[in-house]
Amino acid sequence: MARRRMVYEGKAKILYEGPEPGTLIQYFKDDATAFNAQKHDVIDGKGVLNNRISEHIMTALTSIGVPNHFIRRINMREQLIRACEIIPLEVVVRNVAAGSLSKRLGIEEGTPLPRPIIEFYYKDDALGDPMVTEEHIVAFNWASQQDIDDIISLALRVNDFLSGLFTGVGIRLVDFKIECGRIWDGDYQRIIVADEISPDSCRLWDIKTGQKLDKDVFRRDLGSLADAYTEVARRLGILPEGGNGKRGPKLVH
Ligand SMILES: Nc1ncnc2c1ncn2[C@@H]1O[C@H](COP(=O)(O)OP(=O)(O)OP(=O)(O)O)[C@@H](O)[C@H]1O
Ligand SMILES: [Mg+2]
Repeated sequence: MARRRMVYEGKAKILYEGPEPGTLIQYFKDDATAFNAQKHDVIDGKGVLNNRISEHIMTALTSIGVPNHFIRRINMREQLIRACEIIPLEVVVRNVAAGSLSKRLGIEEGTPLPRPIIEFYYKDDALGDPMVTEEHIVAFNWASQQDIDDIISLALRVNDFLSGLFTGVGIRLVDFKIECGRIWDGDYQRIIVADEISPDSCRLWDIKTGQKLDKDVFRRDLGSLADAYTEVARRLGILPEGGNGKRGPKLVH
């Protein structure tokens, strides 16, 4: 049997050629990186949890008409996705001050923002993913003004939906990042949500205790990342209730 072709290996995921044209298989690794990959570790079970959590969120987005790349889960670590042309931007939506916004602007972490704030970062590891404005994006042809308008509207719809989803399970959606891509329907281009939506790409705080349930646990050495992600999955109803919350997913390699 021929071995499937790897298309791309990133820090957290691997893309393989999919079974049909226009599809890819997204494999979720256990690797965790932060600070532009200066900090790295392998967290048993993280890939399994992110595969499930991203599936859960993308499926829900589909059900409310937010176009995204998810087609179906294949196994514990892999999902079938629509291949798209990734727009080289990280689109960040913030509801509460944290991370780089707090640092750059001197706003205390945890301060609610008067309205959701959207920021764009140019995806370039060598440059450390610098923040850019819409002017840069249009001038350097990374996306058109129409694309940007579509991306903003998608990002705000995702924010509204995710905020409600997480509030319902006692979690505050502080901020998150999405990536978008282009697909073509004949001559028409559409922008869809791609990549992943998981505790790797969101800041999630327990509403009652303020406990962090996202990648900051790893960035700031705050305890077990797998336990935090397991808790998110459990609250979303993805993992069975009961037990001590440490049941961990069964690993497949
Ligand atoms: N539907 C899709 N079609 C094509 N590429 C995709 C799709 N969804 C995600 N990708 C890309 O797949 C890669 C996923 O790998 P990973 O997240 O590990 O990358 P990374 O190390 O974060 O690096 P970078 O995101 O800077 O390329 C990313 O490059 C992402 O942009
Ligand atoms: Mg990535």
